[in-house]
Amino acid sequence: MTEFLILRMSAEEAITLDIDLSGNFSRLERGYVFAECERVIGEYERSGAPRRVIRLGIGDATLPVCPAVSAAFAAAAEEMSHAETFRGYPPVSGYSFLRDAASGYYRALGASVSPEDIYISDGTKSDAGNIYDILGDCTVCIPDPGYPAYRDCAIMAGKRTKDIPAAADNSFLPMPDCLGKDVRGAAIWLCSPGNPTGAAYTEKQLGAWVDFALESGSLILFDAAYAAFAAPGIPRTIYAVKGAEECAIEFYSLSKSASFTGIRCAWCVIPSALCSGGARLTELWRRRLSARSNGVSYPVQRAAQAALSKIAINYADECVRYYKENAAMIKIVFEGKGIEACGAASSPYVWIKCPDGYSSEGFFDRLLRKAQIAGTPGDGFGSGGRGYLRLTGFGTRADTEEAARRLDTLL
Ligand code: MLT
Repeated sequence: MTEFLILRMSAEEAITLDIDLSGNFSRLERGYVFAECERVIGEYERSGAPRRVIRLGIGDATLPVCPAVSAAFAAAAEEMSHAETFRGYPPVSGYSFLRDAASGYYRALGASVSPEDIYISDGTKSDAGNIYDILGDCTVCIPDPGYPAYRDCAIMAGKRTKDIPAAADNSFLPMPDCLGKDVRGAAIWLCSPGNPTGAAYTEKQLGAWVDFALESGSLILFDAAYAAFAAPGIPRTIYAVKGAEECAIEFYSLSKSASFTGIRCAWCVIPSALCSGGARLTELWRRRLSARSNGVSYPVQRAAQAALSKIAINYADECVRYYKENAAMIKIVFEGKGIEACGAASSPYVWIKCPDGYSSEGFFDRLLRKAQIAGTPGDGFGSGGRGYLRLTGFGTRADTEEAARRLDTLL
C-alpha cells in the first residue's frame, strides 16, 4: 500500500544554522492531508495510471464565477490604471462597501451584524489560523473529524487541544455533553453544515451550544464556510441564535458557493460585545491586523461585493444545487451497494464508511488504483475519521458521472 500521510522532517543532510526552531511542529502527527494526497496522486499518475485520475478529494470549486463578479473584478482592476481612481493600501479591516454588503448578507438571513464587526480577509483558512494569535492559555476544542486546519494551526501556535468526538452514534453532531461538565473558558470550533461529514445543526442544537458557551465563559468559533449548502430550515449563521453575539465569532467564505477558491475573499465577524478579562476581542483583532496585514486587494473586494449582489447570489444558488446533485449522485452509488454514506443534503461532501473492513488509507488506495478516483482518507480529518473516506461533489458533472460509473463497476 502507498506510504503516505506522514510528516516528513528530514534535515539531517544540511544543518547549517544555529537558531531554535519552533518545537510545535514536531507535535503535528502528519503532513497536511490535501497536500499529502496530492503528492500520492501525482506519484501514481507519473508512474503510469491506466486512465485519467478523477479528483474528488479537495473541495475546490470547478464552476466559473458569475459574470457580474468577473465584470466587477475587471472594472476595479481598470480603475487601478488611472490616476483619479488608483488606490493604494486598502483599509486593513476591509473597504466599507464590502463590509456593508456583508452586513446585508446577514440582514437577508434575519440576523443583525454591524459592518463595524466584520473583518475582510483572504480566506477562512487564514482566519482559522490567525484567530489563535488573540487567544491565550485556553483549551481549543475541535470536532473530530473536523477541518484539519483548526487542529494543525492550533498545534503550530502551541495551543492545548481537546477533541470533540463527532461520531456516527451522535449523527456526527456532537453536543456540549461531549465536552464534560468542567470545561470553562474554552475556544470551541463548530462547523455547520459540517466538513467533512456534511452533518448540520438545527437552530435548537446551536442554541444548546450557545447556552453552554454563555454558561461556561467559552468562545464559539463558528465556521460557516458551507452555509450556502444548508437545506431549508438549517441555520446559515450562528447569529440566528439569540445570545450568539455574546459568545461567538463567525467565519464566512466566498470560496465554495461563489467560486472564490482562487480569487480568495472571506470575512470573520467579531461582535464588539465579545469581552474577556476586561479586553474587547475586536480590539485585539484590530491590533493584530494592523501589525500583520495590509488587507485584501481592491479588485478582489469589488469582486466580493458583486458576489453578494442579488444576481450573483441567484447564480451561486445554481452552483450549489449542481454540486449537491453531484454529491447525491455519488452517495446513491454507495447506498445502492449497501455501503453507509451520508452528506449531500446540506453539503457538497459525501462521507463514506469504508466497506469490507478497509482502513481509510486502504480504501483511498483501492479507489485510486482500481478506479482511478481520488478521494480524501477520513483519518486525515482526525482520528475520529478512521474507517471513513470523503468524496466531493465539486467535480464537473461529466467527471462525477464517470466516477459514478467507475464506482458502480468496482464496488
Ligand atoms: C476541503 O476540501 O475540506 C477544503 O476545501 C480544503 C480547504 O479549504 O483548504
